[in-house]
Amino acid sequence: MTDKLFLSTVRGAKSAKTPIWMMRQAGRYLEEYRNVRASQKDFISFCLNPEQASAVTLQPIARYGFDAAIIFSDILMIPWAMQRNVRFKTGVGPLLDAMDKPDDVNASCLEGLDDKLAPVGKALNLTKAALPDETALIGFAGAPWTLITYMAEGGSSRDFPKARQWAWQEAKSLDGLISILVDATISFLSLQAKAGAEALMLFDSWASAVPAAQRDWLVIRPARAIVEGVRAHGHNQPIIGFPKGIGEGLLRYAAESGVDAVGLDHGVDPLWAAKNLPANMPVQGNLDPLSLLNAGPEMFRDIDHILDAFHDRPHIFNLGHGITPPTPVENVQKMIDHIRNR
Ligand code: CP3
Repeated sequence: MTDKLFLSTVRGAKSAKTPIWMMRQAGRYLEEYRNVRASQKDFISFCLNPEQASAVTLQPIARYGFDAAIIFSDILMIPWAMQRNVRFKTGVGPLLDAMDKPDDVNASCLEGLDDKLAPVGKALNLTKAALPDETALIGFAGAPWTLITYMAEGGSSRDFPKARQWAWQEAKSLDGLISILVDATISFLSLQAKAGAEALMLFDSWASAVPAAQRDWLVIRPARAIVEGVRAHGHNQPIIGFPKGIGEGLLRYAAESGVDAVGLDHGVDPLWAAKNLPANMPVQGNLDPLSLLNAGPEMFRDIDHILDAFHDRPHIFNLGHGITPPTPVENVQKMIDHIRNR
């Protein structure tokens, strides 16, 4: 059997075809997703319902035939399992119990984590059994820094003042919290690898808020510890790191975090990335999701620019961040057709 296109590419092979998937591909821009969502009492129980989570994971595959499916779950499942009282409020987003200090949480909150998150494994089992042979299955988790931004503030935030102050004022206890989250993430990714995930992705969505001088400590070393921990558990699935918004920091991240591939946000110049990232390192990205709202000539021009820039290196086509709810479904098809018919 030939390898799945997504998997051979993320492992470093260049082929004539470019694999495609989209961050947040199972989400609110799809009517079929909104229908299932409306039947669910709350977002967390939806994520913990293996049948429904698997059903919505498969929706974008059925509609578009993407090369990879990403399991329907959330990065906030770890804070949920750590009893941070995570809930999602329509129109507001995630809400958690805000923390006063990094040591509000201790290692005892990791007890029973695998049992609580077992339904995500079950959803992966079900999805793996139902996917077409050529489609790869991706598991994921949030990186410690990004989880800390939500846990500190008690929800989404624009400037992350608490987490950033902790980095300067509470370094020792923040480091303790990072190690707890590193351990939790190793367990969660290992659980997903065991349950059938064929690749893993680590989302550091708010790496952009980390001062350059603190990146090594808050972004790169935790990613490295997670990669090493997953490997130490015997899992060899390729790992994609997505340190969103770190600009030139990508160079050290790519060289030192140990990830197999890097996700690029739409702020990264593809020509710069192609020239400066380690030779042959697979990249994933990086069309601005907002270009899909009207899918005008500028979008097609940018798709070509991205594909041309990565012509000589393994490249997985994706957006620079998640697809947004108002995106017309036919525009996604236009994007895919343009890439596949080039
Ligand atoms: O299709 C997929 O990508 C798989 C599932 C997935 C979800 N969240 C489902 C979801 C993935 C990979 C995520 C990752 C995630 N979750 C991230 C990292 C990626 C990124 O966007 O930067 C982050 C920061 C979160 C936290 C989160 N979850 C927020 C801030 C919100 C609310 C705002 C929003 O965009 O909706 C969520 C909710 C969420 N997670 C939804 C989905 C489909 C929408 C909620 C709903 O349907 O009611």
